[in-house]
Amino acid sequence: MLIANVQARLNNQQYRQLLADLDQLEEEPWVSTRSARAAVLALEGEAAVRQWIINQIVEPRWDNRGSQMPNLGVTPAEAAIVADYLLAPPADSGWINRINTVLRSRLAWLSFGVGLIGGIAVAGIGGWLWKRRARV
Ligand code: HEM
Repeated sequence: MLIANVQARLNNQQYRQLLADLDQLEEEPWVSTRSARAAVLALEGEAAVRQWIINQIVEPRWDNRGSQMPNLGVTPAEAAIVADYLLAPPADSGWINRINTVLRSRLAWLSFGVGLIGGIAVAGIGGWLWKRRARV
């Protein structure tokens, strides 16, 4: 989703024009983010997306004059770690993993135990009632 969004933006001619317009500004943070914009445009594919995310985290106004996202004071090196995390493929969700997750879940074992005891109780009471009815 994020990757597709960023890629669509980078392939958009208007977005490229917007970046070029920001390069014309003589105020901060648009002067110091010129190299950040150039870096994104110089890269391609996933590398461009990665650089885009890094820029967004380091200085949210790098491509958007009215950005509502605050500058969090994150360094480029830290932002690269976050970007790599965001770009990492999702964890394997195969069936063995899913079963493992359930087996490791305390709630699952608790539910199983409550169900088992409840089932035995219902069966016991049912059997007792059945016998009583049979006797009458
Ligand atoms: C490390 C933490 C953060 C990361 C990785 C991050 C990442 C991003 C990304 C990738 C976008 C662009 C989404 C898109 O347009 O497709 C974005 C936009 C935005 N973010 Fe963050 N963000 C972070 C922290 C925050 C915080 C703390 C706030 C607000 C308190 C915030 C507010 C916003 C807003 C309002 C936008 C919408 C676009 C704009 O106004 O610039 N973000 N953020």
